[in-house]
Amino acid sequence: MTNIILLGPPGAGKGTQARHLVENRGMVQLSTGDMLREAQANGSEMGKKVADVIARGELVTDEIVIGLIREKIAEGAEGGFIFDGFPRTLGQADALGDLLAEMGLKLDAVIEMAVDDSALVARITGRSTCGGCGEVYHDQTKPWPADGKCSNCGSTDVKRRADDNEDSLKTRLMEYYKKTSPLLGYYYAKGQLQSVDGLQSMEAVAADIAAALD
Ligand code: AP5
Repeated sequence: MTNIILLGPPGAGKGTQARHLVENRGMVQLSTGDMLREAQANGSEMGKKVADVIARGELVTDEIVIGLIREKIAEGAEGGFIFDGFPRTLGQADALGDLLAEMGLKLDAVIEMAVDDSALVARITGRSTCGGCGEVYHDQTKPWPADGKCSNCGSTDVKRRADDNEDSLKTRLMEYYKKTSPLLGYYYAKGQLQSVDGLQSMEAVAADIAAALD
């Protein structure tokens, strides 16, 4: 069982690599972004409360995301957890350490996915996701199959996110540098940080992550 964090700015490829690890290692992806979008889609009170915050590119409160993660960790995962987009603040990092300890689990690695800001605009504005299974596509680097059907599940439901525009991306990046990047030092000091070059091809990034984990 391996528990890891994928850490990086918006568009670094965290979701893409998390899905790869789920398929290849039987791990469970815990994406707080996906959980929050699901809450919005379900029309829950919490979902309504966070919709504008997410669309602007700001972070939702620690209390909300820690609550979401607590529930999922309690469900357990034989192959281990991939924390994707969590933690994003020092408070969340402390809470994750406590939650894992409560369950008798440990964090095995924190993988930083390093990508220049200049590459992120193109990645974010070209992204689409399958509404059926969550497969991630990109207009240039991984376009939808010509028949319009998701290669993974056959759905034709193409989704684009409300926060995938240049204005929201500026705020998301500011939030990342202000509140999330201090986690690099936090985990480095614990001897848990490893860095991969996220600018490489998806396959090369996956190979580097596999090497880091093995
Ligand atoms: P979240 O959903 O976590 O978004 P994010 O961190 O901004 O990350 P993204 O999902 O945008 O990018 P990614 O790194 O997963 O990249 P992807 O693989 O899709 O959070 C959204 C919002 O929810 C936050 O802004 C906040 O409001 C809230 N939130 C979530 N968690 C929170 C928390 N813990 N605390 C507080 N608030 C929270 O790739 C991007 C594109 O690039 C895709 O099109 C992909 O095909 C392409 N691509 C990927 N890898 C490569 C590659 N190697 N080469 C070329 N293209 C690539």
